[in-house]
Amino acid sequence: MLEARELHKSFDDRHVLKGVTFGVGPGEIRVLIGLNGCGKTTLQRIITGILEPDSGSIRIGGEEITALPPEERQLGYVPQNTGLFPHLSVRENILYSLKNGRGSVESFHGMVELLGLETYLDLKPKQLSGGYRSRVSLARALASSPRAMLLDEPITEVDRAKKEFVLPLFRETLLGLKIPVLYITHDPWEAGEIGTSFSIMKGGVMSPISSPEEAFAVIRQEARDSGE
Ligand SMILES: Nc1ncnc2c1ncn2[C@@H]1O[C@H](COP(=O)(O)OP(=O)(O)OP(=O)(O)O)[C@@H](O)[C@H]1O
Ligand SMILES: [Mg+2]
Repeated sequence: MLEARELHKSFDDRHVLKGVTFGVGPGEIRVLIGLNGCGKTTLQRIITGILEPDSGSIRIGGEEITALPPEERQLGYVPQNTGLFPHLSVRENILYSLKNGRGSVESFHGMVELLGLETYLDLKPKQLSGGYRSRVSLARALASSPRAMLLDEPITEVDRAKKEFVLPLFRETLLGLKIPVLYITHDPWEAGEIGTSFSIMKGGVMSPISSPEEAFAVIRQEARDSGE
């Protein structure tokens, strides 16, 4: 179980997270939906340990991890824009995640095979299509056998036709690991395809919601209200 309790975060006088509380269980893919700038990436960066919250706590499997450095949290992270190292090959990018002692050569080969990357290992990220860059980023995050996964719009640059192929692969890969997954997307259709549960981020708090359709109805109304 990945749990956050009462997370607060301000940048200068901008109070972005105002008491974020949620739980994601093993085998659950919780999709997080919210308008640009509402704090979704900030929340994931706090969970990974890249950013420090002003207050609140994070637990994984019952263990308090709020004060741990990122490399000791054992979380997989696919950042917005994939975060691949441009000067490293696909192979080196994926193996990079094994550097801190987690994962194994077996898990590397397992992910490469699962995501169909065998023939791309010697290429650089810029030589790949957006869809394959997303797969590499997912393989890199998963090769280190994380306790939970955080994905921030991992396939935004993939076109719809390709998404129809990539999404079931991502879903199957993630569900097979039986770990908690927190997945950010702007695409209502993608949310429905990948998610097993849904939350919206609004006014600095995160609330569960029953379906992506309902989430996007709330978000649409918020966008309309803020545009007036
Ligand atoms: N390091 C930072 N310093 C100052 N302000 C920041 C920083 N990181 C984020 N912010 C601000 O916090 C707010 C939330 O940003 P965040 O990136 O979390 O939004 P988001 O929900 O991920 O948006 P998007 O959907 O556009 O990716 C924004 O107003 C942003 O400008
Ligand atoms: Mg973001």
